[in-house]
Amino acid sequence: MLITFANQKGGTGKSTLTLLYALYLEMHFKSRVCILDMDGQNSLSQKALKDGPKQDAFSYHLMPADLQDLPIAQSELKEGQYDYVLIDLPSGPSWEDLVTVYQAAELVICPYQADELTLSGTTVFLNVLKNINSDAALLFVPNKVKRNASEQLEAAVKAVLSRHGTVTEAIADRPEFSRLDTTNEKMMDLARAALGAIHQKCIEYRQARSSSGSSAHGPL
Ligand SMILES: Nc1ncnc2c1ncn2[C@@H]1O[C@H](COP(=O)(O)OP(=O)(O)OP(=O)(O)O)[C@@H](O)[C@H]1O
Ligand SMILES: [Mg+2]
Repeated sequence: MLITFANQKGGTGKSTLTLLYALYLEMHFKSRVCILDMDGQNSLSQKALKDGPKQDAFSYHLMPADLQDLPIAQSELKEGQYDYVLIDLPSGPSWEDLVTVYQAAELVICPYQADELTLSGTTVFLNVLKNINSDAALLFVPNKVKRNASEQLEAAVKAVLSRHGTVTEAIADRPEFSRLDTTNEKMMDLARAALGAIHQKCIEYRQARSSSGSSAHGPL
């Protein structure tokens, strides 16, 4: 399955969630995971090297990548070399630059913070995405939710986003996430409900695909 982590807005948690979901898949399902770090700054690769679990402790493949690496990853997925390809996208570039990635995506995961800008920015994002790939499943993850966050605002944003896809349980704003030490069980615990919802969405997507006769790649 090919999953992109995307949001035009910076700092919403795309890279953090990409790495956490890779670890979740590996820990719980022994899935073979490839992460394409398409952030031009390769921030995920650098973060994982600095703070993350040692590569030899986990077997996911994390590599700095650009658009030319996408077809290679797609054929490796098709050949069964991986169960999942996770793509960590940058926040900045224009849609034209990422069209091929959005076309390839089976699931788009959009971490967000519910502020005044979320709705207008995300609505633009959704409209363009639907034009490029109306088949992709969409999942929204409220992230960095502060203790004093306005419940009213959270609910209003959730209500709008729910019309376009699934909104998961929120992930709290907690200092545990400032260092991507994924061996920190507390961090995995804080994100577990959202990670479980992402996985559930993958299962539903595959089931829908197999009953409609199309094939999504790899086992659950
Ligand atoms: N739930 C959380 N609580 C507190 N800090 C968090 C949480 N999730 C992510 N962060 C922190 O927020 C910052 C931005 O996260 P991250 O780099 O994952 O976002 P991003 O969307 O990939 O950013 P960019 O758009 O720059 O690529 C990081 O310092 C990260 O450690
Ligand atoms: Mg990032």
